[in-house]
Amino acid sequence: MAIGVYDSGIGGLTVYKAVSAHFKDDDLIYLGDVARVPYGNRSRDTIIRYSIECGSFLKEKYNISALIVACNTISSHALPDLEKSLNIPVLGVIKPGAKYAVDLTKNKKIGVLGTHATVNSKAYIHAIKNILSDAQVYQQACPLFVPLVEEAIISGKMAETVVEETLKDIAKTGIDTVILGCTHYPVLKELIEKYLPQVSVVDSTHYIIEDIAKLNLKKDGKGLREVLVTDDTPAFISLKNLLVGNIPVQVVELAEK
Ligand code: DGL
Repeated sequence: MAIGVYDSGIGGLTVYKAVSAHFKDDDLIYLGDVARVPYGNRSRDTIIRYSIECGSFLKEKYNISALIVACNTISSHALPDLEKSLNIPVLGVIKPGAKYAVDLTKNKKIGVLGTHATVNSKAYIHAIKNILSDAQVYQQACPLFVPLVEEAIISGKMAETVVEETLKDIAKTGIDTVILGCTHYPVLKELIEKYLPQVSVVDSTHYIIEDIAKLNLKKDGKGLREVLVTDDTPAFISLKNLLVGNIPVQVVELAEK
């Protein structure tokens, strides 16, 4: 049975790439809801409704045995509803990211970069303090990072300026670790590291691999790789090629619930 990997757009391909490298023989189906990205500035109810539509599609059409939610925005708002509605294991990226940051921090000052929806949910603050109760957590919404990545503007003056302007306050907090709390942001990792040279920059893929392994899913896959999108924009295709090579992309239509 296949494992579903779902994101609002292209960002989840950073997780798909890591999962694909570790679970070579499993069938992995990626779904990017490119037609409705970004989710990060939408209401909680809308995020939950979109994610149930996407998750149900993957379960009904591809009979997935588990769903990896490769999106922080969805992970911070919709995991319990998704799990209840799909009735299969659903793994998110918040807990693995928080755990890895806690492993790395020395001064217990951790930064979180995310969309407005992720920051407003305070999901990372709860997840970090659950493991390290006296941690100081500084959040920064980065609303321009997703459009930059979706438009494939990932280097050069414009991308640098947006990164610098967005991170100028969090740079002054003394954090020694920062979580890329949005699956689009690893694409900008080099620029973020350049601007925050003393800070460990972490994403969620490290522990998500462990979480998937713990599910002990049946090993009956054939190494199938499929990338599905609800719209195939040119920017998606060029970034897809950059991140996961020439896996063909198929456009699908979701049934509205
Ligand atoms: N990939 C989403 C996340 O990880 C951000 C993109 C969006 O706003 O939909 O938060």
